Amino acid sequence: MSALTFRWARLHDLTAPEWHSALAAREAVFIVEQNCPYQDADALDVHSWHLLGSMDGTLAAYLRVVDPGRKSVHAGAFYAEPSIGRVLTAAACRGKGFGRHLMREGIAGCERLFPGQGIRISAQSYLLAFYRTFGFVAIGDEYDEDGIPHFEMQRD
Ligand SMILES: CC(C)(COP(=O)(O)OP(=O)(O)OC[C@H]1O[C@@H](n2cnc3c(N)ncnc32)[C@H](O)[C@@H]1OP(=O)(O)O)[C@@H](O)C(=O)NCCC(=O)NCCS
Repeated sequence: MSALTFRWARLHDLTAPEWHSALAAREAVFIVEQNCPYQDADALDVHSWHLLGSMDGTLAAYLRVVDPGRKSVHAGAFYAEPSIGRVLTAAACRGKGFGRHLMREGIAGCERLFPGQGIRISAQSYLLAFYRTFGFVAIGDEYDEDGIPHFEMQRD
């Protein structure tokens, strides 16, 4: 049973240790674990809400919600909707329901912060079934992002 404690914050409202823990987790998962050299800390971090999920005071899960109109992907167009991304659970914490708890909180946050605007994501293809369980629908063809196969997905 997942027992994460959540904190939503803009980048400027996070403490330095909080932001360090989020970036360290993102690097550990998306660069080191997934063996993918890419620019993780990007210009969108200042245009995002950051969701930190902690367990006993330690970061166990994280995602960010990029503001509407800021994120662009393969097609070059900007997403009109808020966009959930950098979804992760620390490797030692997987398979315990944290990922689902994190996504439920992320979607609830989008609905509260951006009511009626839907959500668009760029999802790693291996997680299509996971995101479908939250109501996301794949749009278009698979594409490559930083060497990893992705699908665009939308939730009304
Ligand atoms: C995806 C991720 C957040 C899931 O976290 P988690 O805490 O293990 O998730 P939960 O225990 O809540 O739920 C597990 C669900 O995740 C999905 N999932 C997890 N690992 C998976 C894998 N290797 N392949 C396919 N689906 C997977 C399944 O839908 C699974 O549901 P099930 O147990 O009913 O089969 C975690 O595996 C992770 O951080 N992965 C690396 C980062 C990543 O790829 N992020 C997504 C970017 S789009």
